[in-house]
Amino acid sequence: MANWLLYGAYGYTGRLVIEEAVRRGHKPVLAGRNVAKLAPLADQFGLDWLALDLDDGDKLVTAVAPFDLVFHAAGPFAITSDPMIRACLAGSTHYVDITGEIAVFENTFRYDKQAREKGIVLMSGVGFDVVPTDCLARYVADKLPGAADLELAFMAPGSVSAGTTNTMLESMPALKKGSIVRRNGRYQHIPLGQGAKNFTFNNGKQRTAAPIPWGDLATAYRTTGIPNITTYNTMRVTPMQARLMPLARGLLAVGPIRRLAQAIVARRVTGPGEQTRQTAKSYIYARAANGDGKQAEAWLETMEGYRLTAAAGVRIVEKILAGQAPAGTPTPAQAFGADFILEIEGSKRFDTLG
Ligand SMILES: NC(=O)c1ccc[n+]([C@@H]2O[C@H](COP(=O)([O-])OP(=O)(O)OC[C@H]3O[C@@H](n4cnc5c(N)ncnc54)[C@H](OP(=O)(O)O)[C@@H]3O)[C@@H](O)[C@H]2O)c1
Repeated sequence: MANWLLYGAYGYTGRLVIEEAVRRGHKPVLAGRNVAKLAPLADQFGLDWLALDLDDGDKLVTAVAPFDLVFHAAGPFAITSDPMIRACLAGSTHYVDITGEIAVFENTFRYDKQAREKGIVLMSGVGFDVVPTDCLARYVADKLPGAADLELAFMAPGSVSAGTTNTMLESMPALKKGSIVRRNGRYQHIPLGQGAKNFTFNNGKQRTAAPIPWGDLATAYRTTGIPNITTYNTMRVTPMQARLMPLARGLLAVGPIRRLAQAIVARRVTGPGEQTRQTAKSYIYARAANGDGKQAEAWLETMEGYRLTAAAGVRIVEKILAGQAPAGTPTPAQAFGADFILEIEGSKRFDTLG
């Protein structure tokens, strides 16, 4: 039985990963910085635990080295990812995380050469962001070689967890230059809300979606090489919320105010309940196009996003430990192909709207 560590085990998503891992016969060692939260959880699942602080430096390196793989589930990853990646490189331990943050993907990619030299895999984004979108991006790109433009849109019903909300709060000050798209291979800022358009998803629902700085701006470019990418979300922003946005961004740029907001979120936001996780679905659309007016479209339906994060993440652990991913920093679809998402229960892909 392979030997892997789950860091951030007692977070909302960490717990889902434990349940999925145990269901599939794994015995990950549970880790995090808070013994009081860790020990009872490990007890509940009959698993070993390890208290570790990411600031521990040498201790972190020594602790991680005996493991074959670390599953990092503690975010915001802009703060937590780099120390763990360095520890994994030092100990030649594979690394996966569930980030959706563009800067974190780019940081992981910077370690590609070192990861290859060590013969390990460093894979960011093994959750809802970016597994289904990355697989669908590769699918439409493979159907239209040489495509110049890629659109990815998603509709994910249900609420978000405290960790996701806090990660969004952490990245809010960076949005002062607006949203982000990729043009001619480079990131480009656009005003928030600009470029919104209608999409029809395979559940028949038509929704307006606006460009958001989704992790696929980093990963889909790597997976497909398509130079112009826009990622859309159907999240609705009311006119009042739009007017308040600059004020909120200004306030959240002040560290103590942001930390207070995050503390309130941690107490109040609970994330989707069991029933929503079991019944809700997520819908994704992708379109690749070239300059000759040719296009390739596809639609994808998956299970609810947090449940999918655990399901995809644990399968990716299994594949990496089975030697099925190349060393370096591949994206999920680079490593496992466009059809990987179809291995996960509840995933259906469509070439046309029936
Ligand atoms: N890619 C995806 O689709 C996807 C899906 C789900 C979640 N996520 C991301 O995953 C992260 C966790 O989400 P969640 O819902 O599980 O959040 P959560 O319930 O708030 O849990 C966050 C976890 O991270 C730990 N943590 C935070 N900062 C830390 C630090 N500096 N050092 C050590 N541990 C730290 C927390 O431990 P303490 O209690 O000790 O602070 C807790 O265990 C978020 O960034 C979220 O955006 C991504």
